[in-house]
Amino acid sequence: MKARTCLAIVLAAGEGTRMHSARPKVLHAVAGRSLLAHVLAAVAETGVTAAAVVIGVGQDAVAAEVERLLPGADCYVQREPQGTAHAVLAARRAIERGADDILIAYGDTPFVRPATLRRLRAALAAGAAVAVLGFRPSDPTGYGRLIVAGDRLIAIREDTDASPSERAIGLCNGGIMALAGAHALAILERIGERNRKGEFYLTDAVEIARGMKLDAVAVEVEEDEVRGINTKAQLAEAEAVAQQRLREAALEAGVTLVAPETVFLSADTKFGKDVVVEPYVVFGEKVRVEDGAVIHSFSHLVGAHIGKRAQVGPFARLRRGTRLGEGARVGNFVEAKEATIEAGAQAKHLSYVGDAVVGAGANIGAGTITCNYDGGQKHRTIIGKDAFIGSNSALVAPVEIGAGAYIGSGSVITEDVPAGALALGRGRQVVKEGRATRLRGPKAPGKKKVHAHD
Ligand code: UD1
Ligand code: CA
Repeated sequence: MKARTCLAIVLAAGEGTRMHSARPKVLHAVAGRSLLAHVLAAVAETGVTAAAVVIGVGQDAVAAEVERLLPGADCYVQREPQGTAHAVLAARRAIERGADDILIAYGDTPFVRPATLRRLRAALAAGAAVAVLGFRPSDPTGYGRLIVAGDRLIAIREDTDASPSERAIGLCNGGIMALAGAHALAILERIGERNRKGEFYLTDAVEIARGMKLDAVAVEVEEDEVRGINTKAQLAEAEAVAQQRLREAALEAGVTLVAPETVFLSADTKFGKDVVVEPYVVFGEKVRVEDGAVIHSFSHLVGAHIGKRAQVGPFARLRRGTRLGEGARVGNFVEAKEATIEAGAQAKHLSYVGDAVVGAGANIGAGTITCNYDGGQKHRTIIGKDAFIGSNSALVAPVEIGAGAYIGSGSVITEDVPAGALALGRGRQVVKEGRATRLRGPKAPGKKKVHAHD
């Protein structure tokens, strides 16, 4: 049998007024990536043949996020947010191209799993024209209620339009629906706007399909999977759920999290074997930690690759483009950005290493700063293998320190230093015997008493 084709439509045009934010709702982040990114990842993993995202007027940032995440997806603009069915019809051209299954997901419902999306499609393959994800939330307020009879779905009633008895129903609309491609347009075109909000509700698809003698079914899932995010409070709850899942997955994979509840992960954080993460560590997007590495407390990592048995922190800040080689060490109050710190190299205290390469085995003394920015441009610092940079040195980029070179403490290095050379760039020390004693005179100078007028 030929595999069924599938068009996924992700709705992201709503104004998200309840977020009280200048940023489009679907660009708010959970577990280090946007709500939209979570949905698109699930859609992509489901194995769809085409994808469309419906965005609002002027939501260029949303279009850019789609382009970044799923370049094959087409964006359609919904001129005015007139409801979820109206939004789906903004992607009419994509629907007209034809697909066996049309999967509709909401951009503000980030946790749906690909397996669940496949269950919805399976319901279509089994003959239903409409399949809806249902769940039983602890608090159903705000969700549409699913009215069922036996194993058939009769209607979905929006919270604002529901009667008191309908409102008492615990089974709610998870906001993800599958429509049989053959009937989708006919169903969508029949949806009206006669309801309390005066919007075109996608949820009316169920009653309309039944009126056309077509079948509708509900597929039930856990609340966490269909948690919709409309407010900042729900965003925070979703973050808690996501973190819980990510921590469990990390523990399950063998990572030692000493105090899991204090470690914050991103959806894409990757760990090797025997990694130890001490309490209070934050992993932003795109971090990979290889086997045996230790991340000490209070470290903050984004876009960093930590090599085998490397050690980070406590109190380290590793920014995008940081790469630590095997056994490298970055200690307390060290910041690194676009920096490769090769195997066995160390920067253990109070340093900034930016736009730099630190060769294997090199030692960066406390307080060393790569002066990478001249106010206009960024420049690179190259430090050779086994070089020694004395404490409190400023390396004014662009500059290259050769392999095995030695920089005296407190130097300001503005010119390249050849391999094996010693470089000193500091004022020479002057010692004047007995001068301090003489300056003080016979008695040590006491502080003059000053009477404050306060
Ligand atoms: C919707 C459902 C409700 C369900 C809930 C699940 C409808 C009418 N209601 O309610 O039954 O329980 O989701 O979370 O479908 N959008 C557009 N254009 C619009 C309106 C919305 O693109 O004109 C997008 C939004 O960006 C959002 C999604 O559709 O991603 C859902 O819209 P929202 O207003 O949040 O619907 P709910 O009131 O939560
Ligand atoms: Ca919603």
